Amino acid sequence: MATSSPKTIALIDSLIITLVAALAYLLFSWLFFPSWLYLLPVFVLPVFLTSYFIIRYSINKFIYEKITIIYRTIGQLKTKPQEELKKKKSGEDVLEIVNQAVLEWSEEQKQKIAELKKMADYRREFVGNVSHELKTPIFNIQGYILTLLDGGINDEKVNIKYLKRAKKSVDRMIAIVEDLEEITKFEAGEMKLKKEKFDLNELVREVVEYMEMKAGEYNAVLTTETPSSQVFYANADKKRVRQVLVNLIDNAIKYGDKKRGMVKISIFDFHDYYLTEISDNGIGIPEEYLFRVFERFFRTDKARSREAGGTGLGLAIVKHIIEAHHQKISVRNNPEGGSTFSFTLEKA
Ligand SMILES: Nc1ncnc2c1ncn2[C@@H]1O[C@H](COP(=O)(O)OP(=O)(O)OP(=O)(O)O)[C@@H](O)[C@H]1O
Ligand SMILES: [Mg+2]
Repeated sequence: MATSSPKTIALIDSLIITLVAALAYLLFSWLFFPSWLYLLPVFVLPVFLTSYFIIRYSINKFIYEKITIIYRTIGQLKTKPQEELKKKKSGEDVLEIVNQAVLEWSEEQKQKIAELKKMADYRREFVGNVSHELKTPIFNIQGYILTLLDGGINDEKVNIKYLKRAKKSVDRMIAIVEDLEEITKFEAGEMKLKKEKFDLNELVREVVEYMEMKAGEYNAVLTTETPSSQVFYANADKKRVRQVLVNLIDNAIKYGDKKRGMVKISIFDFHDYYLTEISDNGIGIPEEYLFRVFERFFRTDKARSREAGGTGLGLAIVKHIIEAHHQKISVRNNPEGGSTFSFTLEKA
């Protein structure tokens, strides 16, 4: 127990008062009523007890009022003061507890400030990225329109070509804006999942079929490693999982080997989840960037992926989808080259 707790202060103070009162009593009775001398204990005890409890009560009341103000300031008023009062009654040093609470509160505030600063940096970078990404198509469109206005519109050789190119830039801007909208919805928690039971193996085959055209354009071959007879019932938002597969297979094709691209999709049955892997034999991802590929707008090789028509938002969306399912996604480089993306899904 601390030396200056309300209890000890009350004890010392009431002892002093009792002593003074006893001396006064002694002097008084000795001078006027010597027969009262033996009544000293009867007089002293109530004085001691009364002063002890009055002092203790006033100190506690005083401290409690001050604590309430402190707790109101640090915004923990609802439960804390009552709890503290209880503790105080059991003899603990209440001021030490308050001191601890204030220290915790200031630590919390420091962390919050650091987080806000990080968010501010993140936002600044994000806005910079968005305007940078939109600048290219906007300037392209401006260029084509100006050329057309400067007489190009009458030149049969370029007019349609330039309009088509301008349209391509508009499409790109739309793609960026749509992806951004999707990410914003995920981050605001507005994206609701429609979970259902479906066969993951069947979905993989469907997506592979859908992506075969694109694979052909890139000289890539898509293969599914799991036999079609096998059934993997997953519990997830089918449409979203489809989107994840399309994105990952699309990347595997785009960043795969230019001459003989090989994309393999496998599903592994673990005890309480399924693991889907999409692996390619392409350029791979430099080790130092592996943990950054899921960031918005992050590209390992800017020129190449922009030429491939990407917004750099695909993996950020994929990660959001998987995390909304409370599942995990990861990436690693293959020893023989290329990279492997894998994600888990809940079993139905
Ligand atoms: N399979 C892969 N092999 C090598 N690099 C990859 C692979 N997948 C992604 N990357 C790298 O990660 C970056 C981010 O991928 P992400 O899918 O987010 O964007 P993107 O493919 O450029 O655009 P989008 O998916 O919007 O069309 C890519 O630009 C590329 O540099
Ligand atoms: Mg992509």
